[in-house]
Amino acid sequence: MTTPQRLALRGDLLDFTATPGWGDVDPAGVRWRPDHWLLVEAGRIVGAQPACVDLAGDWVRHEFPGRLILPGFIDTHVHSPQLDVIASYGTELLDWLTTHTFPAEARYAEEAVAHAGAARFLDALLAHGTTSAVVFPTVHKRSVDHLFEAAAERGMRVVAGKILMDRNAPADLCDDVVQAERECTELIERWHGRDRLAYAVTVRFAPTSSPAQLAMAGRLVARHPGVYMQTHLAENRAEVDWVHALFPDARSYLDVYAGAGLLDDRSVFAHGIWLDDADRRALADAGAQIAHSPSSNLFLGSGLFDWRAAEAAGVAVSLASDVGGGTSLSMLRTMADAYKVQALRGERLTAWVALHAATRGAARALRLDAEIGSLEVGAAADVCVWDVAVGAVAQQRHYLARGLHERLFAWMTLGDDRNLVGAWVAGVRRDLT
Ligand code: GUN
Ligand code: ZN
Repeated sequence: MTTPQRLALRGDLLDFTATPGWGDVDPAGVRWRPDHWLLVEAGRIVGAQPACVDLAGDWVRHEFPGRLILPGFIDTHVHSPQLDVIASYGTELLDWLTTHTFPAEARYAEEAVAHAGAARFLDALLAHGTTSAVVFPTVHKRSVDHLFEAAAERGMRVVAGKILMDRNAPADLCDDVVQAERECTELIERWHGRDRLAYAVTVRFAPTSSPAQLAMAGRLVARHPGVYMQTHLAENRAEVDWVHALFPDARSYLDVYAGAGLLDDRSVFAHGIWLDDADRRALADAGAQIAHSPSSNLFLGSGLFDWRAAEAAGVAVSLASDVGGGTSLSMLRTMADAYKVQALRGERLTAWVALHAATRGAARALRLDAEIGSLEVGAAADVCVWDVAVGAVAQQRHYLARGLHERLFAWMTLGDDRNLVGAWVAGVRRDLT
């Protein structure tokens, strides 16, 4: 596909210019521009103007009256090979890993499986309106190559890295420190900063890495400024107990990572349910983020994330599907689950806080807000067009809704990939297959 040089998309533009406050259904920082043209040149946003004003010049025009135009969603924690185990019955985290997940990831040792899986995964992300993602592939170096190659073919912004595991996992999924360090270094040199790709040093979680491997991961981060670090943190109570048994000298689970040099402003920690105030302060001081994964937390029975405490401590919170622990790649479904998790805690999550966490908030936490997460001039034109009401039930609810927040909250709660009308990545329209 070629990039049309000048592209104009007409619809209702929605993005954020500031962080919306908790519980406020009418906050400053929501930028709502109904019936506007969004203007794109050479893959970047160059402006917006009301549709009633004559659009001068030579633009390739696509009109979506009454449809929402949003920045593409950012999924800050998702496992590409785990599409194969999504919706697996009957287990909590540690059993789920050994029963379902590790066998599925072991199949990625085969090139053909890793190659086809990467394409299937990225096409599925796009079909759900997600144009950027922070991804766990597998421990196999070639699975990382296949994922990055497929992302580059689609022009997507993907952050990923080889999973590190050298203990407490099946032998065919374990590496060793020397081999892993060599492979990660080669992958960083090959992929980090190429096209729209970035490398993340990817520690699966503390129980599957020896102290020597954690120290090696810390060395990689220190040696390569700008790379990310991703891992799991304090997801499940049995997991937390196991970490205390394996690392008796650490004050907390987070402290295991911090002690290895794996806590900074490019760290993405999935879950963070079972934390204390000292952990939250340390995360905030470091500028690290929590990738909150509500669908996964409900499905695996992991716990109810305390978003308010994270927010109060100043920790950045983004949203993540965590497929295959999560049961949908849809960030709308993820937001709906986040609302329900907060409701079980006696809190109310507005559509604004949820949408911000899946767009500009995630981009800021990744230090990529000049590039993704908004419809700002200069940003990449990663843009999705949404139908806010599909089907008789949603249409009736939409018709009766009072005000913008109520309409968008209903869309967020009832919508999924069937609501997506079109997706553009860096100004190129992508097939929704
Ligand atoms: N902890 C360690 N590995 C995983 C994983 O693959 N998924 C989830 N949800 N938690 C993990
Ligand atoms: Zn995960």
